[in-house]
Amino acid sequence: MDWKSTKVLVTGGASFIGSHLVDALLEREAQVRVVDDLSAGKIENIKGHVDNNRIEFIKADLREPGIAREAVKGMRIVFHLAADHGGRGYVDLHQAGPASNLFFDGLIFYEARRAKVEKVIFASSGCVYPNFLQKDANKEIYLTEDKVSPPYDADNMYGWAKLMAELTLKAYHKEYGIKAASCRYFTVYGPRGVENHAVIAMIAKAFLKMDPYEVWGDGTQIRNWTYVEDIVKGTILAAEKIDDGTAVNLGTMERIKVIDAVREVLRYTGHNPKIVFRPDMPVGPINRVADNSLAKKILGWEPAVKFMDGLHKTTDWYFSTKNKEEVRSALQAKLTER
Ligand SMILES: NC(=O)c1ccc[n+]([C@@H]2O[C@H](COP(=O)([O-])OP(=O)(O)OC[C@H]3O[C@@H](n4cnc5c(N)ncnc54)[C@H](O)[C@@H]3O)[C@@H](O)[C@H]2O)c1
Repeated sequence: MDWKSTKVLVTGGASFIGSHLVDALLEREAQVRVVDDLSAGKIENIKGHVDNNRIEFIKADLREPGIAREAVKGMRIVFHLAADHGGRGYVDLHQAGPASNLFFDGLIFYEARRAKVEKVIFASSGCVYPNFLQKDANKEIYLTEDKVSPPYDADNMYGWAKLMAELTLKAYHKEYGIKAASCRYFTVYGPRGVENHAVIAMIAKAFLKMDPYEVWGDGTQIRNWTYVEDIVKGTILAAEKIDDGTAVNLGTMERIKVIDAVREVLRYTGHNPKIVFRPDMPVGPINRVADNSLAKKILGWEPAVKFMDGLHKTTDWYFSTKNKEEVRSALQAKLTER
């Protein structure tokens, strides 16, 4: 697909992932509009593009009357990333906020169809996978897309909303013909990431030289953290190659234990604290790793960045850009808020 001059809306484009997607779309010379209420996203993430008039930026809450309609007007492609979303602490402890995604996603899809948008690409999540498959750390399970099927058992209200949005898009394609794709992101990390997600929280605690150093759970939880550049490449490929509402995993197949990631952060940053486990804090699924063979097959995508390399790059970014006082004053709240 030739992106040059293609009119593209990125909802939530000031976010961590959204802003990297905007960068990649501009590299491809797309004409980009961002709508973001900055409730979690940061203007700094896209400031260079705003100042240079390289994007159209609208600061607005897409749930307010009329905003979604204006946002999609004249657009050919919509990447829908705006969401009431946070890290594990937020997803476990807050249900009402993420529930607003149920009507909010539906509103964007409704308005996109009404405005004759050609295609909608939706930022879905590993949180759509059934909880009951992810409870045993001793199983070497890889989540294939077909495992999201009845009996559904999504991860908190956040996961249910992502699942409903995927199903809505599939129905829209089948019954209304609009082209669509859902990308199931798995625990994304990288520069511009926020401390409410585990990897950035680990790095922030090392940055502050926390001692004792807290780890939520017993550290044996398994994740497949995936680097943001890979996620963005996969998302654009999905826009180019999927039309029928198929949901595809974008995640590595590297199985990383939380405690191993923590140890590497501590080794790399030269911090040697006493580690304290907090089993009373939210831990999420015990064992969550994607199978990415469908993405390989239909998108020709596979992650290029190994976890250790991405972790080092992200740590370097964090240490070279953050201010200790600012991180210290905000960290505790960020661990459980957006
Ligand atoms: N970070 C991850 O590991 C991960 C994993 C799976 C899925 N996702 C999804 O990817 C997307 C981007 O996530 P992210 O991690 O970059 O951070 P994020 O949660 O900060 O992104 C959401 C963006 O939407 C904006 N927003 C929220 N409500 C809005 C509203 N009502 N109107 C306008 N803008 C609004 C926020 O300001 C923010 O910029 C989200 O949809 C998220 O659910 C992220």
